[in-house]
Amino acid sequence: MVNLTLYEAMGGEAGIRRLVEVFYPIVVADPDLGPHFPADIRPVQEKQFMFLTQFFGGPALYTEEYGHPMMRARHMHIPLTLKLSQAWLRCMSQALAETGMDPELSRIVMERLSAPAHHFINTPE
Ligand code: HEM
Repeated sequence: MVNLTLYEAMGGEAGIRRLVEVFYPIVVADPDLGPHFPADIRPVQEKQFMFLTQFFGGPALYTEEYGHPMMRARHMHIPLTLKLSQAWLRCMSQALAETGMDPELSRIVMERLSAPAHHFINTPE
């Protein structure tokens, strides 16, 4: 069997692009998450496209543009609780389902994202 990266399995550039396009409207509409995001979501969406591309094994777009990801540090100005972390993961799970991602692949993607999502928690409930 061909050994694909998760990036390739998720549909490469088009697949990640579609995922972030579906994900952010869900995030912005979430009553807990929405207020933490800027009114113009497009720059965040584009950065997330670049980050997830490299996170899942595609080209290092984010690092080329912004340097070391230091993602926990980049979330430090957000009072990030367990509740917010779970809300973010729930939105991602919904986005994966809405894009029609294969359920087994979605499970792996969620497993990979839940580690950083919990690592970014910086505020007690
Ligand atoms: C755990 C729950 C999370 C919350 C509440 C959250 C919230 C946010 C917010 C509010 C921003 C915008 C910051 C700003 O414009 O000032 C942001 C940016 C970002 N987030 Fe998250 N995030 C979470 C998890 C994650 C995870 C798991 C990843 C990836 C593994 C991620 C990747 C990013 C990226 C790449 C950016 C853009 C960073 C930059 O400014 O260069 N986030 N996040």
